[in-house]
Amino acid sequence: MSGKVYLNGKFVDRDKAMIPVEDRGFMLGDGVYEVVRLYKGNPFCLDRHLERMQNGLDVLKIKFNVKELEEVCYKIIKINDLEEANLYIQVTRGAAPRQHHFPEDIRPTVLVMSYPAAPISQETRQHGVKIVLLPDERWNRCCIKTIQLLPNVLAKQQAKEAGAFEAVFYRGDIITEGSSSNIFIVKDEKIFTYPLKENILGGVTRSVVMDIIEAEGLEVYEREFTRQELLDADEVFLTGTTTEVMPVVDVDGKKISTGKPGKITGIIAEKFEKLKNKVAEGKQL
Ligand code: PDD
Repeated sequence: MSGKVYLNGKFVDRDKAMIPVEDRGFMLGDGVYEVVRLYKGNPFCLDRHLERMQNGLDVLKIKFNVKELEEVCYKIIKINDLEEANLYIQVTRGAAPRQHHFPEDIRPTVLVMSYPAAPISQETRQHGVKIVLLPDERWNRCCIKTIQLLPNVLAKQQAKEAGAFEAVFYRGDIITEGSSSNIFIVKDEKIFTYPLKENILGGVTRSVVMDIIEAEGLEVYEREFTRQELLDADEVFLTGTTTEVMPVVDVDGKKISTGKPGKITGIIAEKFEKLKNKVAEGKQL
């Protein structure tokens, strides 16, 4: 891919952008990131993504104010003439001789770039997808969107090898979230999703979907549910920036209900589509 990226205050050609080998993101995974979807060149909920990033930076004590990034994002979109793509934003603690504890007087490494949005066919959305369940082997602070993604990478690879769209994690008997998505179930017209706690990422799409559900007057509960409750659900769906709203029809080879996407998932996906179109027209949500 050609085009310009933003790195530490400068807009540079992608192949000229250099990061020191001692960057703590590269060496230690010491940083956070965001993926923001663009629809016709308009970012979806950039404000919510930047707010989450600021929270992560503050928790990790990486001194950086994301405020300046809003303008940077719009500039990257403009100079690269981006339409359907993902913005990728990453802030690491910066570069310093390798040591575990925080170095003094270090400047964060700040990167904004884009990458292609992997298309998901209409057919896939209409038929729904298969997921596999895997033990959640991640740490206990999954609410931070850290660049340390090895467990997620391994889980997604395992899903791919099983011919599944996503790997969904469980801790003990409790379903938490997907390797790059959040998960909801519907039972008797009530909707359930894991509460906003340290074991999941508070997804931006999750929050938009919660708004949709409430606006529709549907009943939603942020409460834990078990593997068995997932298998017994009437409907299951995933949410995420790259996933949007995706019906799940098969869990570990077992059909969910009739094996077809459910009605409530359909209503939520349709409303989400409307919000996307609104964003694509340059309107704020
Ligand atoms: N991942 N949970 C995890 C572990 C995630 O990595 C993601 C997103 C989500 C959904 O969050 P959101 O709705 O804000 O995208 C939930 C991004 C897309 C990624 O790593 O590519």
